[in-house]
Amino acid sequence: MGKLSELAAQRFGMAWPVAEDAPGAETLSAMLSHRTHRRFTEQAVTEETLNLLYACALSAPAKSDLQQTAIIRVRDPAKRRAIADLMPEMGWIGTCPVFLLFCGDSRRIRKLCELRGHAFANDHLDAFLNAAVDTALILQNFVTASQAAGLGCCPISVVRNHIDAIAEITALPEHVFPLAGMCLGYPIHAGFTSTRLPPELIVHEDQYDDSELTAKIDAYDQRRNGIYTIPPEKYRQTAEHGSPDFYGWSEDKTRQVSVRERDDLAAYLRRHGFCLD
Ligand SMILES: Cc1cc2nc3c(=O)[nH]c(=O)nc-3n(C[C@H](O)[C@H](O)[C@H](O)COP(=O)(O)O)c2cc1C
Repeated sequence: MGKLSELAAQRFGMAWPVAEDAPGAETLSAMLSHRTHRRFTEQAVTEETLNLLYACALSAPAKSDLQQTAIIRVRDPAKRRAIADLMPEMGWIGTCPVFLLFCGDSRRIRKLCELRGHAFANDHLDAFLNAAVDTALILQNFVTASQAAGLGCCPISVVRNHIDAIAEITALPEHVFPLAGMCLGYPIHAGFTSTRLPPELIVHEDQYDDSELTAKIDAYDQRRNGIYTIPPEKYRQTAEHGSPDFYGWSEDKTRQVSVRERDDLAAYLRRHGFCLD
């Protein structure tokens, strides 16, 4: 097996032969080796390194070249503490060398419309979606660039559980919303590859088909459990749902999404001027 097939097999926990002769093996290996990092050394990230990461991140494609993102670097220790204190279960938010907030920004283009005397005619859900997608692409480029430069990242969507407090701390104006935070630093250890669902469950030919979902998820749960077994102390909601003999990915994720959260997101967006119809 070549290196790319090995990395792909590691990603899925099963053989997944890929073209070994593709050009760009270094980039492809880096993408296949992606890992989220949550523990960092105390080594500072230089301004030039950060500038490089911003440049790479902002090289992402942008819908209609509208460039609808804002990144807030939280440097003030009091603001960082206030943000970290909102999410004490994620200690890495307070301890990482750099913390950023990636925001969708539909404000800039609307201000430019005013400035140039044109209407902003598409004030509906798509305006929110475009800013969110642009920001997600920039966020992913930031992660990829960071890893290539020897750093590690952890995006933080949990900022949206505290959306009003986050917006107040960082003074987010109308038409700007937090998409995710970002912890950045030099990782303490190599981390581990998180086993993904097999491509055959995600890539469909000609038409959507999930007729084999149950069997394939059972196999994935078993495969993933063979690589990393979730320890009983990490089982969610044991008081309500107990501790089954087998606790796989699908049990864990369905327990996770069974808890309601972020139901004030639409209200936040409307209060910040978005029309979601
Ligand atoms: C948009 C986004 C938001 C995330 N939010 C959080 C978060 O709030 N806290 C956290 O610890 N990890 C967060 N993560 C990291 C995911 O948990 C991680 O990507 C996932 O478990 C897969 O692991 P991997 O990235 O190492 O492959 C987030 C990742 C993404 C892409």
